Amino acid sequence: MRTIRAKIIVLFVVIFGLTLSAFSGVLYYLYARQSAQNFDLSLSNDALAIVGMVKGNSFLEQEILSGIIQQPLQANFGPNRYVQVLSINGNIIIRSSDLKDVTLPVSPDVLALALSQHQVFETLNGKTAGKLIGTGRLRMVTYPVFEDGMPRYLVQVASNTEPLDENMLQLRLLLFISVPLAILAAALGGLFIAKKAFDPIDKIIRTAQSISAEHLDKRLEMGKIDDEVSRLSKTLNAMFDRIEEAFRLQKQFTADASHELKTPLTILLGEMEVTLANPRTAKEYVETLGSAVEEIRRITKIVDELLTIARLESGQLAMQKQPVRLDELLLDAVSKTSAYASRRSIKINFEVHDRPTEESEEVLISGDEDKLLSVFINLLDNAIKYSNDDTTIRVSLTVSGGFAAVDIIDKGIGIDADDLPHVFDRFYRADKSRSSEGARRGTGLGLSISKYLVEAHGGSISVASTKGAGTTVSVRLPICEPAVELKVPQA
Ligand SMILES: Nc1ncnc2c1ncn2[C@@H]1O[C@H](COP(=O)(O)OP(=O)(O)O)[C@@H](O)[C@H]1O
Ligand SMILES: [Mg+2]
Repeated sequence: MRTIRAKIIVLFVVIFGLTLSAFSGVLYYLYARQSAQNFDLSLSNDALAIVGMVKGNSFLEQEILSGIIQQPLQANFGPNRYVQVLSINGNIIIRSSDLKDVTLPVSPDVLALALSQHQVFETLNGKTAGKLIGTGRLRMVTYPVFEDGMPRYLVQVASNTEPLDENMLQLRLLLFISVPLAILAAALGGLFIAKKAFDPIDKIIRTAQSISAEHLDKRLEMGKIDDEVSRLSKTLNAMFDRIEEAFRLQKQFTADASHELKTPLTILLGEMEVTLANPRTAKEYVETLGSAVEEIRRITKIVDELLTIARLESGQLAMQKQPVRLDELLLDAVSKTSAYASRRSIKINFEVHDRPTEESEEVLISGDEDKLLSVFINLLDNAIKYSNDDTTIRVSLTVSGGFAAVDIIDKGIGIDADDLPHVFDRFYRADKSRSSEGARRGTGLGLSISKYLVEAHGGSISVASTKGAGTTVSVRLPICEPAVELKVPQA
């Protein structure tokens, strides 16, 4: 009973069994009633024929009425027909030869009914029946004959109900055998159908069970017909695709992260070992330590970014959203990166277009100030890092249609069209030679973190670039609607 299959079969058999039983019962009842009516009708017809005979025979009538006939007429009315004709005062006038010396009874009730011009049917299973047919029942009609409004005779026709009983017995037997057989057949059919319906699901269960972390490439078979089962398989397969991809990314991430950490550690170790191999001057030690500090900074940066990513993904890095002035935030980001920029004689220009209202200078957005600041420092850092010396970076803020658009435009080295779609991937760096000049060594995590943070603010980020000509990074953030000032009516 614990499987759906068993439940369906049981339910099916119960419903089918009840329906069939009810149907058979009704059928049996209607058939029995109809048969009994037919039986009575044939008795009634026979009685009517005899009535005609008795009525038409005026001689017989005369004889009977004058009481001449002492011995009743013996007549044969066919097999299984017991006939008796009585005068109204009880003399037997005609009797069928099968009756021998048995008299068909006329009870006072029947007589009373007959006298009120009714034919009366009754079933006899007492003494009379016993004497005539042994076991079994007799069905009898008592039919009154009237002449000139006066009752004259009673015609009685009786018949053994055995053929009728026999018929009904056979029908009962048929039903008692065929109904359980039909239910059994239904159960077997149900079993078969349920098996056919659930086999594919069993198969899915077995295959799905065998898909584990080690065998993530396995897929469920998809039938040619687009039925529920194949749709289930398709859905599960799509889910496995996503899980496999997530696993792959996870593995890749771990591999990349270890690799990223290994490079500076190897450099650090190498430099230290070389330095330690021989006695050095103080200047040399300072140099080595300086280089070590640089590598450790880099390691710290990577670990910080990895931590940020881990927190972002586990949802631990909650956004503390509050109204933030985006124009001020951008100025802050520019000033925090300007020292780095001026070291390479790079100028950063900040322009604001189309403020939300003429009166107010503010561009308000709802966001986490620290995280947004880190996004723009990151983008500016990239712009500076990948610019040539003595160039200008433009930061433009435009407000329109409920959004603030920040464009960071540099005239730097640009990004190859092949690399452009991947710059937001983790650890992706267009410059594959990781040994490129120290200043440009990044982690490849900045843009992926920035994208995550911008999207967490309901915004979007995109990059457009021409190799060798420069890059534009665009960030769109929804702005807060300026608060509607309540006008106080003047007195
Ligand atoms: N302004 C830019 N100009 C040229 N290339 C850029 C610019 N910004 C990003 N890139 C490319 O995209 C890559 C990914 O950027 P990012 O995720 O910030 O990593 P990182 O700056 O640590 O290398 C960079 O390595 C660089 O190749
Ligand atoms: Mg970067």
